[in-house]
Amino acid sequence: MAEATERGTEREPAQRDTERGPSEREATAPFPPDFAWGVTTSAYQIEGAESVDGRGPSIWDTFSRRPGAIANGDTGAMAADHHARFREDVALMARLGIRAYRFSIAWPRIQPTGTGRPLQAGLDFYRRLLDALDDAGIEPIPVLYHWDLPQAIEDAGGWPARDTAFRFADYAGHVADAIGTRAARWATLNEPWCISFLGYSAGVHAPGRHEPAAAIRAVHHLLLGHGLAAERIRASAPASQVGIAVNLTNARADPSADGTPLADALRRVDGLHNRLFLDPLLHGAYPADVVADLAGIGELPVEAGDLAIISTPLDWFGINYYADRTFVAADGPDPAIADVFPGVEGLADAPVDHPTDSGWPVTPSGLGDVLIRLAAEHPAVPPILITENGAAYDDPTGPDGSILDSRRIVYLDAHVREIARARDAGVDVQGYCVWSLLDNFEWAEGYAKRFGLVRVDFGSQARTPRASAGWYARLIAANGPATDRQSAPAPASD
Ligand code: FCB
Repeated sequence: MAEATERGTEREPAQRDTERGPSEREATAPFPPDFAWGVTTSAYQIEGAESVDGRGPSIWDTFSRRPGAIANGDTGAMAADHHARFREDVALMARLGIRAYRFSIAWPRIQPTGTGRPLQAGLDFYRRLLDALDDAGIEPIPVLYHWDLPQAIEDAGGWPARDTAFRFADYAGHVADAIGTRAARWATLNEPWCISFLGYSAGVHAPGRHEPAAAIRAVHHLLLGHGLAAERIRASAPASQVGIAVNLTNARADPSADGTPLADALRRVDGLHNRLFLDPLLHGAYPADVVADLAGIGELPVEAGDLAIISTPLDWFGINYYADRTFVAADGPDPAIADVFPGVEGLADAPVDHPTDSGWPVTPSGLGDVLIRLAAEHPAVPPILITENGAAYDDPTGPDGSILDSRRIVYLDAHVREIARARDAGVDVQGYCVWSLLDNFEWAEGYAKRFGLVRVDFGSQARTPRASAGWYARLIAANGPATDRQSAPAPASD
């Protein structure tokens, strides 16, 4: 969920809690010892090193230089300098007792123009990262695509072009040939909804196009690329477990609104945000009502055999969850809604009480709800990992250097409890990755929105664990033994 509403920083009374959330005391039972307690990042948001070792330009390099595209004119040129500091970052994770690290591989580091022979230096960077994770006993969960499309592939048409799915599969094959056996769990794509609708319809993300019909074509080619890439990973690394990460939300009507006129618009939002991706991946068919809604806007360019590829059975399923969206009725089209949900009219976002710094509401029960609904509607869904969940809060550094980010702790604690609720209801959730390990380049919001368990000073690149990092370390330690290569985690400075 990267669509921003207005910024807000007010504190909710319930969020003025202690740093030690209740889940570390009570939520031990529902989580098995092998639960993958993780953190997550993505390449463009942390690596920097945009021209190092032959990396080619990505659509985010281009888009972030477009005047007005990114808050403060920020770019990912330096980001959190993780390319140079990855060992320090792995050591930090090890000290926190982190069990799993979901990160992404930058396609333009492997194939600078998106095609052709893979660059050894690019692969070697990820080999070194994998070595460091292995030494620290941290499970790597690599993602092949977290939004940094090689610019040359966009110049050839980008995701709206069918050929991009095949170029992505070739890239996946190169990565899998080189390092496929180095990770058990692989993810193909992160958040195809954001890639297609924020990038090609709303134009608030790279490549910044305002073409709803192209966004709809992108949906299909992303899913096709996912299925083709899954085949390539399995061909090179047969023991690998392949998944994808989709972002889900509940579309709700403001309780004070008369729900009846909203019902059809809410169905459309749910269709475009959730079912347009879940149904083909898990059922091999696009939802008929959504296809009908889109007539006149654009077409899913399905060719014979595509849906069988898209619905190739997965070994695990990743859910990114940040917040539900609540709507009120509106007269006519609201561009903020129609841009990201083409064809949806008659809705406006309800005002958000006590938003995070991103302007997003805090709605933990929605996580339990999406999990329970997913398992009910798709009984064959494979085991689930929560691949992203977190909140932007920029609490000040105290005189003693500590950062008491109580609101983040309350947010994370409440969402962990919802996972426990879903597990109690029989949903097989096997891991949880906090977005994010580090403050980073938050796409169109630049560096202003801070999601890290660890604060990054973007001048000195100093890392300072916030209180939430210590809270998470204790939660992990309380819920099971460290892996055999991890010693008991030292408490983070908090
Ligand atoms: C998600 C993105 C991730 C980050 C979080 C806050 O949509 O996958 O990169 O920006 O939002």
